[in-house]
Amino acid sequence: MFEIVRRDGLARIGRFETRSGILETPALLPVVNPKILTITPAELYEEFGFKALITNSYIIKNSDDIRERALNEGLHSLLGFPGIVMTDSGTFQSHMYGEVEVSNEEIIEFQKNIGSDIGTVLDIFTEPFWSEEETSASIDVTLKRTRDAVSMKGDMMIAGVVQGSVYPDLRRMCSERMKEMDVDVHPIGGVVPLMEQYRYSELVDVIINSKMGLSPDRPVHLFGAGHPMILSLAVLLGCDMFDSASYAKFARDDRMMFIDGTYRIEDMLSLDCKCPACKDHTLETLRALPEKERIRTVARHNLYEITKELALVKRYILEGRLWELVEQRCRSHPALLDALRRLNVYRDFLETYEPISRDGAMFYTGPETRNRPAFRRYEKRIEERYVPVTDKAALFEDREGKPYGRSYCEDFARVRSSGYVPIVLSPFGPVPAELDEIYPIAQSLFPSVADKETEEYSENSVMEFVSRSGFSEVADMDDVPHGNGGYDHLPEKAKAVARYQFGKEAADALICGNVKIVTSKNTGKIRNVISDDEHVLSMRAGDGLFTLRPEGALRIVEKVPGPHMRVVVSDDAVPFVSEGRNVFCAFVKECDPEIRTMDEVLVVDGNGKLLAVGRAMLIRDEMLSFRKGVAVKVRDGVGKS
Ligand code: GUN
Ligand code: ZN
Repeated sequence: MFEIVRRDGLARIGRFETRSGILETPALLPVVNPKILTITPAELYEEFGFKALITNSYIIKNSDDIRERALNEGLHSLLGFPGIVMTDSGTFQSHMYGEVEVSNEEIIEFQKNIGSDIGTVLDIFTEPFWSEEETSASIDVTLKRTRDAVSMKGDMMIAGVVQGSVYPDLRRMCSERMKEMDVDVHPIGGVVPLMEQYRYSELVDVIINSKMGLSPDRPVHLFGAGHPMILSLAVLLGCDMFDSASYAKFARDDRMMFIDGTYRIEDMLSLDCKCPACKDHTLETLRALPEKERIRTVARHNLYEITKELALVKRYILEGRLWELVEQRCRSHPALLDALRRLNVYRDFLETYEPISRDGAMFYTGPETRNRPAFRRYEKRIEERYVPVTDKAALFEDREGKPYGRSYCEDFARVRSSGYVPIVLSPFGPVPAELDEIYPIAQSLFPSVADKETEEYSENSVMEFVSRSGFSEVADMDDVPHGNGGYDHLPEKAKAVARYQFGKEAADALICGNVKIVTSKNTGKIRNVISDDEHVLSMRAGDGLFTLRPEGALRIVEKVPGPHMRVVVSDDAVPFVSEGRNVFCAFVKECDPEIRTMDEVLVVDGNGKLLAVGRAMLIRDEMLSFRKGVAVKVRDGVGKS
């Protein structure tokens, strides 16, 4: 059973429950060759804290000296490893070094018999250079073998490998078919050549298309990915598990893994690592070590480098800043920069996983930052949900010091008094003054010198916006004189934010009749929105978005048809949720596909009656597939009658 503990977009910190313990993900499983124990499994567990490892059942089966021991005393005892043991099937050996004389059934049975916690199907490795026909035919075989493996799994978990070479449609098809089977983990296979050849952009295609077809409640393993330089990117795209043989393989070639690449000891000019393996060494003392000890030292260094990056990735997920780490990492190699740029193709898919807001500010590190799904969301919502207050626009340059309403306080007031809407040409595109405080507009930092690409984007999208909106007049900020009319901007701001956040229909239901805006005495900012004497919304200072009050929620339920903003729960959850308890995934029956994480949502019963208001922790697919975990954090239970 797999559960999301924290998440940042597709990236997640999860708990994967197995019979040999709980694995916290993202996790890296070091590959252990039972015949060459460069670092012993006990050391991996105790010194490095690896709670799971992966070893090859095919090698064990073919080695007379260890096969019997594995069968008699079990894999955990053979390896001296108290954690979780996953086994691979021999696919890679068969592919690299010729025929494997073992059938799928035999190797599944053998993995069960040696007590593997997670056994792998004998899949067919699909090479990047294969034709579509060849790939497709071999996927059929892999799928059949997976079905067979599932039917004989017993209490061993099954890893069903997604194949499909570099063909996005085949990757997705393979995933969708495998989703229907009772598989426990999905490794993405056939990617080692892509990584060895630095084809990271295609790796992005492969991972995302595989993810699109899979069910979110199963961990995804990226087979053969153990280099720290791609970990953050792979986690960002939703990979939960990794394995590394390279820490030991590279060590045998005197190669050290660093976050920006792999370096041969003989080529290195200095050793600047202070990890426990390197700390007492200089390059000279390391080179001078006897071979065996040198290999061990380099292997330990490689493992420390991986664990360091993995810990950092986790920290960035917790902080909601993983995109920023990935942007840094992808600048360490041109092929990784290609991968970062490739994400643009998938911005709509990535947007579905993007939270409505985050705690910290968003950092712009270059034009690629505009690929971030938060930009895409803003672009879409401005187009679909924004309605200008008047038909006259005054254009403002982007300026340091946010929110714009503060740095342009007097100028905004001046143009408004002449009946103009202030519009800022920002790197996000057009920002109408009413939306200047929402996430991520106000919660973002840009360099003071703009780059050309983003400047052009900003100008073009503002021009498009202006022509689309049908303004009768568009003026430069300096050309608009003081007037003596204008409009009351606070109610307009409340409406614009409500439309942006909840859609036009819901906003109209929330803010109508006699509207009173309560502002903060200190900052002048909107605090509460009262409509016809009902407190319908409160504005959050942090992200400039609204918290929905129960009175507001009731209005949406009455005026806006489902499934808009709804999470439907089963009858047995009704009494609990009505009292204000959280909604757990197991009780979710349906959910609006437009709901994003951190969105305000309406929890309703099967008849559409409002039970509670809260914030979504997951999106629809996740709520419906997970059996454990909180789907909605309830703030107010309102269903008790
Ligand atoms: N190890 C690295 N790649 C693969 C793969 O595609 N399948 C299996 N079973 N093991 C692998
Ligand atoms: Zn080191």
